[in-house]
Amino acid sequence: MKGGIESKKLHLGVFASGRGSNFVAILQAIQEGRLQANVECLISNNSDAGALSVAKKNNIPTAVIVKSMYASRDLFIEALLDCLKKHDVDFIVLAGYMKKIPPEVIAVYKNHLLNIHPALLPSFGGKGMYGHHVHESVLEYGCKVTGVTVHLVDDEYDHGPIVAQQSVVVKEEDTPETLAARVLQVEHQIYAETLQLFAEGRVEVKGQKVYIKKK
Ligand code: GRF
Repeated sequence: MKGGIESKKLHLGVFASGRGSNFVAILQAIQEGRLQANVECLISNNSDAGALSVAKKNNIPTAVIVKSMYASRDLFIEALLDCLKKHDVDFIVLAGYMKKIPPEVIAVYKNHLLNIHPALLPSFGGKGMYGHHVHESVLEYGCKVTGVTVHLVDDEYDHGPIVAQQSVVVKEEDTPETLAARVLQVEHQIYAETLQLFAEGRVEVKGQKVYIKKK
């Protein structure tokens, strides 16, 4: 107990479809003692995901679970839930996961399921707004500021309660690549910090609003 708030190690299940740099940042934060958590398993829909190699190097159990591998949607959901249960996952982290999480899984992990988005939601979010599309749109619109959002996941894309946001200044000479690189640096910092707030039991969700309790 710290100041009346209960602190508890998170047992993370990380979902990733791509290179997994946020996953690496989370593992670093754990190793450096900045995040009280353990990654119990890495789930991907893409057998070529760099995140799978990261997990294997770190001796973290992996699973490739793809809807098309199952005879029915129910069996797919059962496979996801069985995997999470088998590894005692109590908190899900989406780190560049390109598929929608089924509502049945969201229901089990309500308020224990985070996503990171490379823009300031509710702008530049929703279906089709991923990867370079986000940064291209921000530049096309002429935004002077963009940023990072960490939010709880609900049944709509990029919609759930916002837990943390940080802005990034857009420079006149930015390309989607240079902007993405600066935004990514912030992502690597803010995701572990936000997860630590959950580990410290400091996050209170009331409807769409999230309150962070003081230490
Ligand atoms: C990040 O930009 C994240 O915000 C988005 O997907 C990207 C994943 O990058 N959801 P990485 O695989 O963690 O490097």
